[in-house]
Amino acid sequence: MTREKLNIAIVGLGFGKEFIPIYQKHPNTHMYAICQRTKEKLDAVGDQYKVAKRYQHFEDLIQDPNVDAVHINSPIHLHAPQSVAALKAGKHVACTVPAATTVEECRQIVNAANVARRNYMMMETAIYTREFLFVREMRNNGKLGRIQFMRGSHQQEMAGWPGYWEGLPPMHYATHAVGPCLAIVRGEAEYVCCFGSGRIEDRLVANYGSPFAVETALFKVRNQQLAFEVTRSLFETARQYRESFDVYGDKTAFEWGQIENEPPIVHVGEKPERVQVPDYAHLLPEPIQRFTTKGVYDDEHAHLSFIQGGGHGGSHPHLVHEFVSSIVAGRPSFPDVYQSVNWTSAGICAHESAMQEGRRIALPDYHSEAAGSH
Ligand SMILES: NC(=O)c1ccc[n+]([C@@H]2O[C@H](COP(=O)([O-])OP(=O)(O)OC[C@H]3O[C@@H](n4cnc5c(N)ncnc54)[C@H](O)[C@@H]3O)[C@@H](O)[C@H]2O)c1
Repeated sequence: MTREKLNIAIVGLGFGKEFIPIYQKHPNTHMYAICQRTKEKLDAVGDQYKVAKRYQHFEDLIQDPNVDAVHINSPIHLHAPQSVAALKAGKHVACTVPAATTVEECRQIVNAANVARRNYMMMETAIYTREFLFVREMRNNGKLGRIQFMRGSHQQEMAGWPGYWEGLPPMHYATHAVGPCLAIVRGEAEYVCCFGSGRIEDRLVANYGSPFAVETALFKVRNQQLAFEVTRSLFETARQYRESFDVYGDKTAFEWGQIENEPPIVHVGEKPERVQVPDYAHLLPEPIQRFTTKGVYDDEHAHLSFIQGGGHGGSHPHLVHEFVSSIVAGRPSFPDVYQSVNWTSAGICAHESAMQEGRRIALPDYHSEAAGSH
């Protein structure tokens, strides 16, 4: 049974609250409930956005039969356990990145989604940015030609973020760089060799046992004659914030700008040209089109990740629309559960490789594992 409008619940109201006005305006959703632990903040956000149903405990929220779908924006270590619990309670799940912190958690998500027959989508902002949608258009209209190589980088200084970030292995938060490389070829990673480079201070190393300032990896794409490269840094490496991806076709290549607000470069053959990437709001239902540029992006309300992350390229309403329309149409989302856990496992396995001086590590094949268990 599907309601006329899906009842959405948002969990975690830091980054998560940015999505409230979008669900309030989407034609197929009702922004039904919010959840976070501290009552004061819960009420402040509920009053600000006029959301009546409020939960302090996630466990109570998922028992509410009126909730159709849960959008999880809690701290990283809760993503997988909360996703699995929500799927088991029969809810569709959208979860911010990364999907999980271990491959075992990834297995649990696939299993729970398959048993519950509910959609699971990792809300990867980097594959719904204007830049990605621009490259996707060039892929679809043949302008890129045959894709030959991809490269992603995500360099950020996380000092001053909530405590669980301190010392996080760089590749454990790699989906913004991995996601676009794999999304553009609709692929999954098969194996990885990754090197750790440099060292962060001992106080940070102690938290996750991860010593490296930078992790840099080469991945093989499963069933395609393609490889891609990803570089991540989180602490003690000088650079302006950058979340970039480059794609090289045999006809045309796309390269991200070096610094913020510098337009990307399109190379046609050997001829480079800086381009202004258009906005893709026209792909969305009219009531949420404004959210690619306005509404949640104004300076007063912007989340720190918007300021550092360049507004996530207008991706939020596209993510919401993909999640909601996949449920309404009864089709898998993009990314679906398999792509979501593969793109997450790419980083988990890369860090494992870095800790073993670059040993080649194969990612689990979650499709075969799921087929084997039926
Ligand atoms: N571009 C992106 O995709 C992007 C950008 C920013 C953040 N994120 C992701 O969003 C997540 C949250 O980021 P943030 O900066 O808002 O973090 P935060 O730590 O500031 O906020 C986390 C929120 O979760 C709530 N929470 C914690 N434990 C909870 C529980 N047991 N039940 C319900 N709610 C709980 C907290 O009260 C808080 O509202 C992070 O995991 C991060 O990976 C993604």
